[in-house]
Amino acid sequence: MKRILTVLALMLLPSASLATEVKQAPWAPEAAAYRLTLFLGNLSPVPWQKIRDNWENPSNRDTVDVPALSRLNAVQQAALRTALATENRQAMFEAATTAIHQRILGHLAAAAKNMETVEAESDVAQARALFRAFEDGIKAADPDAFRDLDLAWLKMKSALGFRRALGTKALDPDAELFAEARATLETYLTANYAPADFADRSRLSSIPETAMATGKTVDLPATLPPGSKIANQSELPRLVLQFEEAGEDETNLPLVAYGDMLFDSSEIFGGPARELGIACSTCHNRSDVNRDFFIPGLSHRAGGMDVDGAFFNPLFNDRTDDHLDTPSLRGLRFTAPYGRDGREPSLRRFTRNVIVTEFAGKEPSPFQLDALVAYMRQFDFLPNPKIDRKGKLTKLASDAAKRGEALFNTPFEGLNGRACSTCHIPDRNFRDGKTYDLGSSEPPFPGGTAIAFETPTLRNINFSAPYMHDGSLPTLASVVDWFNDSKSLGLDDVQRADLTAYLKAVGDGEQPYQEFAGKDSEFRLAFEELTTFASTLNTLLPARDAKHIAILVDTVAPDLAADADSMSNPSAHPLVHQMSNTLRSVGDAVATGDWAQAETQWQEFQALQKQYDEKIF
Ligand code: HEC
Ligand code: HEC
Repeated sequence: MKRILTVLALMLLPSASLATEVKQAPWAPEAAAYRLTLFLGNLSPVPWQKIRDNWENPSNRDTVDVPALSRLNAVQQAALRTALATENRQAMFEAATTAIHQRILGHLAAAAKNMETVEAESDVAQARALFRAFEDGIKAADPDAFRDLDLAWLKMKSALGFRRALGTKALDPDAELFAEARATLETYLTANYAPADFADRSRLSSIPETAMATGKTVDLPATLPPGSKIANQSELPRLVLQFEEAGEDETNLPLVAYGDMLFDSSEIFGGPARELGIACSTCHNRSDVNRDFFIPGLSHRAGGMDVDGAFFNPLFNDRTDDHLDTPSLRGLRFTAPYGRDGREPSLRRFTRNVIVTEFAGKEPSPFQLDALVAYMRQFDFLPNPKIDRKGKLTKLASDAAKRGEALFNTPFEGLNGRACSTCHIPDRNFRDGKTYDLGSSEPPFPGGTAIAFETPTLRNINFSAPYMHDGSLPTLASVVDWFNDSKSLGLDDVQRADLTAYLKAVGDGEQPYQEFAGKDSEFRLAFEELTTFASTLNTLLPARDAKHIAILVDTVAPDLAADADSMSNPSAHPLVHQMSNTLRSVGDAVATGDWAQAETQWQEFQALQKQYDEKIF
């Protein structure tokens, strides 16, 4: 009895560190491959080749460099190979699921055999890492069981005893406790991940088999496969807004401020995008591009994805795997029509389409569309002193760039007598608003017509690599090579270098990334942005606009609380949390129709903001 108490007391320590360790540790390769298999297996059409690659080639993202398949035994490999070769989704699910199950049990058996050794700890850790493949399904379908299993993992770890620094043992292993915990895990896992018969799954998931058998619906939150990256890149693009140049303040432009807020809000989307917290700004980071954005299976390369695939909105799935590179939105009001293929002259309709068809959002209100469009029409190009108003190089440009300018204006036979500048017209922001089939893409299906793409602007392109609609060319030099080779331009090395120097001069921009100086300046930027969003209450409250207040509060209050925790000055956290709570109270009051109370809370928020503005920083 005394022994058990000691163990339970000691468990408190490792439990805290275990929780964070498991979250941050790289995925076990098989568990990562399993998760990607579930994700890809739910796409339509199922990308079989990607699933095979996923098991057979070492992944370079987030996991160790080992093909996941090689970690399975011969029988497991054969079952999975057959399922993949015959493209049998259910068989694939069963083979992969039982393989993970057996691997977990194998590690537990090994640990039981070698309890005295350090390997036992490593086996338990590996089993726990593999268990992560099933974790979210158990948590969602069977939270009580999840708690029991979590405890069993802890018991097992502590049953192995604790070692002092040099490997001398503080406590002997407790075989009985280990066996008990192991039995709990094995019984549950076998019943749920290696049943005699699997039910047919219309959706592949880690939901335990016993929960499937009851037929009750399980609310399983959307997840992205390991290796996904949707957080903003560390280098934040600098945002240049038209009104700021004119000396105007965003708080005086409530429509723009509200659009700015919506651009950062996942509340306008539905389905997985909303659950995952994806917003316009996730991809179009501060009018430019999140160049790190990547979702395995949906993105061919970082900085874009197949936006009309099955994952975000199955209803508008075009069933082709067509990765598109996310375009920069700088200078958007000059670059109609919209879409890489230039299909849509109206920014408003394009935006509505993104919300409803691409990301399964509800029909946006006219006010929402007005606000988003008003905001995006503010996006300016970064100033570039190397070109003048007509797009001609100034004397700040290099000699090489000037020689390149002449080439850019020279007609070539391989371009049907056109010059580069015929399409990229210098005094029209290096574009012409037209679409061409340059042979830069394959037809979407054999025998189909290739898609024509719109001439993109060349302004500020130094910061939006990779290039072309699919991001297939990594550098400006490679674009020049591509034109030279595919259009037989016959440029020599020096000419190609000159043309590239010209593109770099035209594509430049002043201070492309946000510069942060001083303590908490990142927090300060976020704080200013969020309080500006909140300032739209000055118009929304008098207008009694409950619907748009709700979106505002649901977006800004959690962000304010989250950003507070990024401040370096912890004593200021409670103040920002108080502002977040006060904003919530505005929302709560509006929801019950108590407008007087809402006004009072809004006054309170503004008073707090004023009071703390100096204190916080
Ligand atoms: C998952 C990444 C992603 C998200 C989220 C996203 N976009 Fe895009 N956006 C893209 C890609 C990729 C394209 C190119 C699509 C195409 O050509 O059809 C694009 C194109 C655009 C364009 C056309 C630009 C041009 O010059 O042709 C606009 C405007 C735009 N998005 C606005 C938005 C708005 C507004 C939102 C939020 C409501 C949003 N996007 C959300 C990736 C994204
Ligand atoms: C017939 C019109 C036309 C001509 C002539 C033309 N381009 Fe383009 N350019 C385009 C189109 C259309 C695209 C987009 C292709 C795609 O997305 O696949 C493009 C893409 C580019 C890009 C990539 C921009 C980005 O952001 O992805 C660069 C750089 C470029 N062109 C430079 C040139 C140079 C240099 C020349 C002369 C050698 C040239 N272009 C000639 C129409 C033209």
